[in-house]
Amino acid sequence: QRLVLIGPPGSGKGTQASFLRERLCLCQLATGDLLRNAVAQGTELGKEAKKVMEAGGLVSDQIVLGLVRENLRRPECKNGFILDGFPRTLEQARKLDELLATDGIGPLSAVLNFAVPDELLKRRILGRWVHPASGRTYHEEFHPPKVPMRDDETGEPLVQRSDDQPDVLVKRLAAFHASTKPVLDYYEKRGILHQIDASKSIPQVRQQLSEVLSVDL
Ligand code: AP5
Ligand code: ZN
Repeated sequence: QRLVLIGPPGSGKGTQASFLRERLCLCQLATGDLLRNAVAQGTELGKEAKKVMEAGGLVSDQIVLGLVRENLRRPECKNGFILDGFPRTLEQARKLDELLATDGIGPLSAVLNFAVPDELLKRRILGRWVHPASGRTYHEEFHPPKVPMRDDETGEPLVQRSDDQPDVLVKRLAAFHASTKPVLDYYEKRGILHQIDASKSIPQVRQQLSEVLSVDL
């Protein structure tokens, strides 16, 4: 399977991508996570991305495409992949198709649109806690860790993302709405777009994915 997950901040892309990765043995490429790694490492690319991310804007197509191309070459992506948070612009969607063709990877099998009304997203984003090393995500109310503020598997402390603040969220939402519609239209025309009601609970969204992809999740 070669999957793309599209949806606003807090729509549950990362949460559901990790279920898909584990059950289907696919590699999970979240451009947000790749960028946060570059920021943490303090690379040139990371320095450039940091400013944009903290302001809730979109990092340049060129940077993001470079990261995706590099990571799709990882051996664990041979089986298939889940792109989480990419593409988010029409340019990225077109370039992704070119890349899949020129690198002989094969076309996308499905694009899932995680639709959630904006009003629900604030609570999800402000209650989120993450384990940076693994990307595991929790929520103080909707998906609490076994021990408060600690990762279930490693026991290490959880942190909040620096862009998970009310004022930055408003900008991230605006960036999402401004750039994503053409991407959805692009995939709709190709007949590979599926709508997911991501306002439902985590298990209910998981169930919808299982039906759309005809897999046992
Ligand atoms: P990115 O990391 O992709 O952030 P985002 O798109 O804002 O999405 P989030 O990670 O916030 O949300 P999610 O959908 O993964 O939700 P999650 O599963 O964690 O990007 C960050 C930044 O990087 C961007 O702003 C941009 O600057 C840059 N960037 C990234 N990709 C780019 C690109 N392609 N081009 C240009 N720039 C790019 O869930 C959220 C919370 O809710 C969690 O606490 C979770 O436990 C909980 N939750 C999940 N599902 C449910 C549910 N169904 N019910 C209740 N709670 C739930
Ligand atoms: Zn995410």
